[in-house]
Amino acid sequence: MKRVAILISGGGSNMVRLVQDMRSEDHPAQPVLVASNDPTAAGLAKAAALGVPTAAVDHRAFKGDRAAFEAALLEPLLESRPDILCLAGFMRILTPGFIDRFEGRMLNIHPSLLPKYPGLHTHARAIEAGDAEAGATVHEVTTDLDSGPILGQARVPVEPGDTPETLAARVLQREHQLYPLILRRFASGARERFDI
Ligand code: GAR
Repeated sequence: MKRVAILISGGGSNMVRLVQDMRSEDHPAQPVLVASNDPTAAGLAKAAALGVPTAAVDHRAFKGDRAAFEAALLEPLLESRPDILCLAGFMRILTPGFIDRFEGRMLNIHPSLLPKYPGLHTHARAIEAGDAEAGATVHEVTTDLDSGPILGQARVPVEPGDTPETLAARVLQREHQLYPLILRRFASGARERFDI
């Protein structure tokens, strides 16, 4: 049984879907920790309600010292002995020193069809470019931002009149299908790309 820790920064809807899926009987992984850089993140209460241990390390207390923030975050994280680390709406950039510790076992979900639109404001950029399709990508995390090996993508149409908000909501629904599926495959040892 693989041990999975999840990092969040906000509402945690993807985290909830991952935890719910891991709770199903035949799943090869179990959730061991949900941690956030924001003590007020709504997802922390959702994780606690699901019976998952939580931790919060407020990045603002470290005044831009990323290494010190990451050292503090690593404490509860390493204590939970994760085999796999999932970023699920975690909005801090991690340093190579942190990423290297979890090489080959850290996943992220990103709200675009990578390699298109790494970084922020993905939905606004897709609309502005006149793209017919948008979507989400689950990928392995490497030291290059949003550029690790792609494990799976989900696509949605961009509809006439879409705003970044309406498109984000459509993509998020598909994220909730994609991420649990890819985590389940990853925890079973699958590394081939799988699109839905
Ligand atoms: C999701 O859309 C996720 O893809 C995105 O943040 C949202 C979190 O929602 N992640 C990023 O933008 C990472 N750069 P959630 O907290 O409800 O899962």
